[in-house]
Amino acid sequence: MAKKKIMYVCQNCGNTSVKWLGKCPECGEWDTFVEEYEEKHKNIPAGIINIKKLDEIDLSYENRLKTEIVELDNVLGGGIVQGSLILVGGDPGIGKSTLLLQMTQNTSKNKAVLYISGEESMRQIKLRARRLDIESENIYLLSETNLINILSAIDTIKPSVVIVDSIQTMSSDDISSAAGSVSQVREVTNVLMKVAKERGIATFIVGHVTKSGAIAGPKVLEHMVDTVLYFEGEKNSLYRILRSVKNRFGSTNEVGLFEMTSKGLLEVSNPSEIFLQNANLDEPGSVIFPSVEGTRPLLVEVQSLASNSGFATPRRMGVGTDYNKIVMMIAVLEKKLGMVLSNEDIYVNVVGGIHINEPAMDLAIISSIASSFLNKKVSKDWVIIGEVGLLGEIRVVPQIEKRLLEAKRMGFKKALIPKNSIENSKALKEMELYEVTSVRSAFGVIFNR
Ligand code: TYD
Ligand code: MG
Repeated sequence: MAKKKIMYVCQNCGNTSVKWLGKCPECGEWDTFVEEYEEKHKNIPAGIINIKKLDEIDLSYENRLKTEIVELDNVLGGGIVQGSLILVGGDPGIGKSTLLLQMTQNTSKNKAVLYISGEESMRQIKLRARRLDIESENIYLLSETNLINILSAIDTIKPSVVIVDSIQTMSSDDISSAAGSVSQVREVTNVLMKVAKERGIATFIVGHVTKSGAIAGPKVLEHMVDTVLYFEGEKNSLYRILRSVKNRFGSTNEVGLFEMTSKGLLEVSNPSEIFLQNANLDEPGSVIFPSVEGTRPLLVEVQSLASNSGFATPRRMGVGTDYNKIVMMIAVLEKKLGMVLSNEDIYVNVVGGIHINEPAMDLAIISSIASSFLNKKVSKDWVIIGEVGLLGEIRVVPQIEKRLLEAKRMGFKKALIPKNSIENSKALKEMELYEVTSVRSAFGVIFNR
């Protein structure tokens, strides 16, 4: 028998190397390489090949299974597609198991659902289900980590939905590496994918996001599965955001909003209200931005604080948005508007634990920083939209009308928008729209400068 080859695999991105490396050249993470054996794949004889013409493929039976959790159905693109493989990623403790257990209630109405946990005992799951008021004759539990046993459970129960919680605890005897390693996580997912496709079982795979690199994160599976959902949120906030980052059966970047309560996750159907409920609109540094996540408009508050720095190198920090973006906006303020920010610590926060990376938020960020620095309020009835270029120019962004309609619905009266970004819209008649072409002219309007 040939000797098994040892290789080193990055547990964050799956990159391989013949030598151990301190830093992964692929994803840039430190200390993520772990020794694994290279697995030789057996020669599998070719099976029956089934070629069809495009015209012959019948789509009429594609019926999606509704979870009846509207936020989840939307993020999935209108319900669960049979035979699809769905990865649900997120930090430990964010609520992945809770959401999936809640989902079993409605998906098990006429069909069997199998919930496999490698983390909790059946008793623990039962206790949680009782707390969530879940009752059904068709929910089957299995506390198991070995793939062979999982497959035979699927054979016995013949479920239409399977939940594997979590992929990092599962292992296959065919692979010598430990559970949670890249090889194991991939192998188990591969087998589950085959079973899912062949038998039309919708399979949910839970993957913890790991920071330490000791076990493989969900990133290494993203390309294998049909749909990738991430559950986000700040530890201290009760709100949770479910976001689709990949979906072969729907649009990506769709978000669903939930609130964690003592009775599990509740849907939030009017998110703008939630994100603005504590908005300190009457203080310098606060600016409202109508974002669009997927197809859904969502009003958020951008807060900034510019305060005199005690450090030689002033601090710049962003929560809920990109650090580089903040640095860029500060550079524009210094060069194009002559503000001296080199002695200021600058903090920017998108309130509510949501992460927004849209270029359309640039003008809101830059206005918010300027508002705090100048100590001038942006009055409460404004929303601010636009992308800012390095020359201080303002560029058109997509879906302006949708953003403005949401702002109007939430009672905002004035909007700062890029020039030529909207045609005459009847629906927006009552709003005062100010079209601007540069940051300078924008500040002229909101700060009366
Ligand atoms: P959980 O679903 O176990 O997280 P994950 O599977 O992503 O690791 O959620 C755990 C947290 O949720 C835990 O801190 C307790 C809290 N929680 C509630 O606040 N209310 C509830 O009804 C439940 C079931 C959990
Ligand atoms: Mg869990």
